[in-house]
Amino acid sequence: MTAVEPVELDGGTVRLRPWAPRDAQRTREACADPLIAEFIPLMPSPYTDEVSQWWINEGAPAAWQNGGASWAVVDPATDDVLGGAGMGQVVAERAQAEVGYWIAPWARRRGVATAATVAITRWAFAERGIARMELVTAPRNAASQRVALAAGFTREGVRRGAATLRDGSRGDHVVFARLATDPPGPVAPGLPDFPGGELSDGLVRLRRLAPGDAEAYFALSELPEVRRNNIGGPTTLEGVRERCALAESDWLAGIRAACVILDAATGEFAGDIGLYYQEPFLRQGIIGYGLRPEFRGRGLATAAARLISDWALEQAGLVRVAAGTFPYNEASRRVLERAGFEREGHLKARLPGPDGTRIDDIQYVRIAERYR
Ligand SMILES: CC(C)(COP(=O)(O)OP(=O)(O)OC[C@H]1O[C@@H](n2cnc3c(N)ncnc32)[C@H](O)[C@@H]1OP(=O)(O)O)[C@@H](O)C(=O)NCCC(=O)NCCS
Repeated sequence: MTAVEPVELDGGTVRLRPWAPRDAQRTREACADPLIAEFIPLMPSPYTDEVSQWWINEGAPAAWQNGGASWAVVDPATDDVLGGAGMGQVVAERAQAEVGYWIAPWARRRGVATAATVAITRWAFAERGIARMELVTAPRNAASQRVALAAGFTREGVRRGAATLRDGSRGDHVVFARLATDPPGPVAPGLPDFPGGELSDGLVRLRRLAPGDAEAYFALSELPEVRRNNIGGPTTLEGVRERCALAESDWLAGIRAACVILDAATGEFAGDIGLYYQEPFLRQGIIGYGLRPEFRGRGLATAAARLISDWALEQAGLVRVAAGTFPYNEASRRVLERAGFEREGHLKARLPGPDGTRIDDIQYVRIAERYR
């Protein structure tokens, strides 16, 4: 690996410069953050004064000697440390490398990571002969996945078991990459956020499923009539926890928008609804939902189905939102009809039934107003 002379980068709102002894204290303060320890398994924890001095004197210089790079990301006006960023995993014969970063808790949510990632990637393409820059995140690290998209990286998929976690176990990597030939600017998420984080019509509120919803969501999924209609969803508490923890990542990936339905009057967890974006190329998704028994019969499912399909058709760019119902599920068909869906077809043996049987699917659809 060819050693590289340390350089400074002008990232506009941030400056990237080689580490200096005066950065030791701020680096230690920043890296004591539990989020950094969680999402950067190789970061020493606890992060002591000795560790930060070792990093500045030996760790970071070694990155340059190995053909990579490591910078302090600082405020251009005050020189205060805002974070750390670097380039590693350089595979010269593939003209490929990987960018990584951490941002101090006091400097988050103002574009620091994005600005640093853009500057490093531009430099690597222009000065280091890199053609493909990778960026890998933990599946649960949605904040970092948002940085990747904002910096113009495309999500490519999940590399299973690619990460060694702090306890020695294996974890997955969600892989993003930016090519030197990619167009400038950010990459849009697969599904847009709800404006202001929620959809509401006075009767119900819909928000993204979150880790704290796991117990309520699991209890709902255990009801026999909900379980009977559950196709492909998690069936164990562990599976439900995983679904909740990955809800934001799956949303950004455009895989699904998994939501909870809250009773707008009391804020209680009334049920769940999700848009499963199965055919992005055709701009078609399907919805599925379930309500706790004590919230049924008041129009909450209808309101939720209308809200999520309005959002899908008017804001998320879908053209068709479909919904399948088991032949015996008259209640669900009433919900769909009242929410503006129309009956479209009868698909034979489309749904898995009990004991290896197959069941017909009565299909409903709502299409975007502009195509009616
Ligand atoms: C992930 C991390 C680097 C983000 O740094 P940051 O400087 O706050 O990120 P930015 O301000 O550049 O944010 C980029 C985008 O992500 C969004 N974002 C960042 N953090 C977010 C959060 N916690 N929740 C929701 N959105 C978030 C921003 O709003 C912005 O979105 P926009 O482009 O639509 O405006 C920082 O939280 C961190 O250091 N985490 C711990 C270490 C880590 O995860 N490192 C990366 C390992 S892969």
